[in-house]
Formats: sequence, C-alpha cells, structure tokens
Amino acid sequence: LWAAVDAYVMPHSHPSSRPNTAALQHALTASKAAGLPDISAPPAQAKFLALQCRLLGVTHALEVGTLGGYTAIWLASENPQLHVTTVEYNPHNADVARGNIEFAGLSDRIDVILGAGLDVLASLKEEVLTGKRPPFGFTFIDADKPNSWNYFSLAVDMSKPKAAICVDNVVCGGKIADPENDHPRILGGRNVIEKAGKDPRVDSVVLQTVGEKNYDGQLWAVVN
Ligand code: DHB
Ligand code: MG
Repeated sequence: LWAAVDAYVMPHSHPSSRPNTAALQHALTASKAAGLPDISAPPAQAKFLALQCRLLGVTHALEVGTLGGYTAIWLASENPQLHVTTVEYNPHNADVARGNIEFAGLSDRIDVILGAGLDVLASLKEEVLTGKRPPFGFTFIDADKPNSWNYFSLAVDMSKPKAAICVDNVVCGGKIADPENDHPRILGGRNVIEKAGKDPRVDSVVLQTVGEKNYDGQLWAVVN
C-alpha cells in the first residue's frame, strides 16, 4: 500500500512535464545499468530535501554518499542557485554519478569529490574554517551508517547558523528500537540519534517514513 500511494501521488505532485524528468530518469536507468544498488532516496523524499533547500534559501549543500548522483540532481535541478558538494568513496559510483550529472547539464553546480568521507569532510572543514569555502546551509548524510555521527559532527562544524542536517536511514524498518539488534548499521543509527540529542550545537528530531522503499526514517537537525 505504501508503494501504491507513492505511485499514485508522485505523477501528480511531480508531473513528467517538469524540466528535470529526463535527467532524473536517466540517472536511475544509467545507475541500474552500471550495477549500482537501488538504494537512492525515493523520489518523494528526494524532492522533499530539494524543497527544504528552497525554503532555507540554501546556496551551498553538502552530501555524503553520492551513489549515482540521483539526490544531488534533485537538489540542484529544483534550486537554480544551489551548488552541491557531494562525497563518494566508491570510484565506480563517482564515475556513474559524474556521467548522470553531465547528462543533466549540472556539472557546473554539482561537484563530486572522490574519497573517504572522514578524510574529505576534514579537509572541507579546514577550507570552511579558513574562509576558502562558504559554510553549508544543508547537509544530507546517506553513506556508511556506522560513521553517521562522525559525518554529522563534522557537518555541524561547517554549517551556517540555522542550517539543516538530515541523516538518512536511522529507523531501518523499526530495528532501531529492538534492543537485541546490535548490527553495526543499527548501532550507527542509535549513536547519531543519541549524540545529536545531547549536542548543544543542534536541535534534532527523528521522522519515520514509509513509501516505495518501505519503512525507514530520517534524523533532522537544525544548527543553532
Ligand atoms: C541502504 C542504504 C541507504 O542509504 C538506503 O537509503 C537504503 C538502503 C543499504 O545500504 O542497504
Ligand atoms: Mg539512504
């Protein structure tokens, strides 16, 4: 039923006559053809992120976990003033993403950086703190789940005041609330939820989500 509702609402809330339809479809098709897993944010959630960027007037967004560039293409194509810096660990994914971004005509506004998230974020932070790069107004963390807190904490340090940070996949079909489950990705989710909740730099909340990619949820935080 969740998938059926997404299939019903999306053609109405984002009709295929929209200018980014071909680019988004190409990103999905080319990613699948290149063997990438089908784990990008679903269209409704990706558009929601893009609309949050619009509400916040974001000019510089950061993404950790590019995959095939699908979310980055949503963010940039819905927001003509937005520059996206997106970090990817897997060279094949980064190649596919660059091709998809090129096809979308967004290579001038989406910068794919290949490297390990912790290394790349540490150097981005240095650039922000030394004034070589503007701070970010929005960060989407959607990478290796055990590191979600580490990425989150670095993102806070390079955020503007009142920036938003979203961490994907913190609910995992409800497994997050099962005390018997100690899978590393579940522990990673609990770690970011519990540490963000105590962190005086932010206010946070977890929103549960359902849809074509089943039951999960996101942590949202506003940087004070
Ligand atoms: C997986 C990763 C994701 O970021 C996601 O949104 C869904 C699934 C995964 O690793 O399986
Ligand atoms: Mg995800």
